[in-house]
Amino acid sequence: MPGRQRAFNLLKSVSSASCRCPAHSCGGGHTFVPHSTRATPTYDYAFEMACSTVRYGPGVTQEVGQDLAAIGAKNVMVVTDKILAGLKPMATVADSLTRNKINFTVFDDIRIEPTDKSLKAAIDFAKKGNFDAYLAVGGGSVMDTCKAANLYASDPEADFMDYVNAPIGKGLPVTAKLAPLIAVPTTSGTGSETTGVVVFDLEALRTKTGIANRALRPTLGIVDPLHSLLMPERVATYSGFDVLCHALESYTAIPYTKRSPRPEHPQLRPAYQGSNPISDVWATHALASLAKYFKRSVYNPDDVEARSQIHLASTIAGVGFGNAGVHLCHGMSYPIAGCVKTFKPNDYQVDHAIIPHGLSVVMTAPAVFTFTAPACPDRHLEGARLLGADVSKAKREDAGLILADMLRKYMSDMNVDNGLSALGFTKDDIPELVKGTLPQHRVTKLASREQSEEDLAAMFENSMTVL
Ligand SMILES: [Fe+2]
Repeated sequence: MPGRQRAFNLLKSVSSASCRCPAHSCGGGHTFVPHSTRATPTYDYAFEMACSTVRYGPGVTQEVGQDLAAIGAKNVMVVTDKILAGLKPMATVADSLTRNKINFTVFDDIRIEPTDKSLKAAIDFAKKGNFDAYLAVGGGSVMDTCKAANLYASDPEADFMDYVNAPIGKGLPVTAKLAPLIAVPTTSGTGSETTGVVVFDLEALRTKTGIANRALRPTLGIVDPLHSLLMPERVATYSGFDVLCHALESYTAIPYTKRSPRPEHPQLRPAYQGSNPISDVWATHALASLAKYFKRSVYNPDDVEARSQIHLASTIAGVGFGNAGVHLCHGMSYPIAGCVKTFKPNDYQVDHAIIPHGLSVVMTAPAVFTFTAPACPDRHLEGARLLGADVSKAKREDAGLILADMLRKYMSDMNVDNGLSALGFTKDDIPELVKGTLPQHRVTKLASREQSEEDLAAMFENSMTVL
């Protein structure tokens, strides 16, 4: 495909011209090139805000059939999971589609924490179905599976690794035109209804990686807080910590003006661009909302106000991090989740060992923010303040410890397992966890402080017990 080849060549030329300094190189930050001998890095000077259209309101799911009719959909693939297939959100969706005379086929063979294998099953189903629109009803795993099905069915000749993030995959730009996709989140965590990101376990490497491109963004996110009332306690807990880390990581990410290289074409500007004034608004709003409603929403499933506000906070944080990015908590969570041994969380009806995404992310948060605080202490103090800490007499050099203490309080209040050791890891696993983090450049390069292998190992070690 000439267009794709042209874009790929452009990508290669940008990559070859990129800065090789420790903070931005693809070498894991081990080869220091003195400033006097290296080419001047080209830092970005612009950022771009993009997100799905979102519609929020209790009961708004009933409108989805009208939305699909309005875009002329004739044959819709509805992706959900086997449990939700028998619950109210899917009943509402089916009723709305039927009333609006939309033909649809349900695919519920998804995996909670999807793998390349489970995505490929959905992709094969999508390719055979000749669908003209997609509808995801579920949590992040469902929405991400639906996005992948749409992408590869819209570009049937593409190899699976073509779009997987480099350096694990080829990270090619998406030039195919995707079908419309509507996402109806039923958990309050990933913000996947707003982002162009798919995250999955690449089984061969035992780590998570992803596909990130604005083309994958849903056309519309239907954010119906009534669905969040169905979340069991642990699902509300772990998904809430995902929101918290999205907000804190995007707020403390490297500023967009410090990200290198400056893209030579606006289409090559990554979705994750670094912290910026507009993402900051979304991130700080989400943190304040968590301070007010997180604990209530976890322990009071019938608290409509608290559950609704956290459901909305998930979308709000999603808009922020979908443009600013996340960094080390997420980068380090991918091998934690990928190297799971026997852990099976309460409240998750799964037949395989999993570490839920939000749990894998928050486990390293106290260590990560203690590490990154020296690079931007004021932002770490502001994060702690928004979460409820009194920082009126705080010293900037204590910013990391103050934020880490606040995170430990949240983790203790929400009865989270005490560190990686409680999830089945020992110190002997640290080299493999570090190895699985090193290729996650897309996010680790966004940390405000560069990190060596030794730094990563120390953060994993400091996360063995947390409370
Ligand atoms: Fe996340």
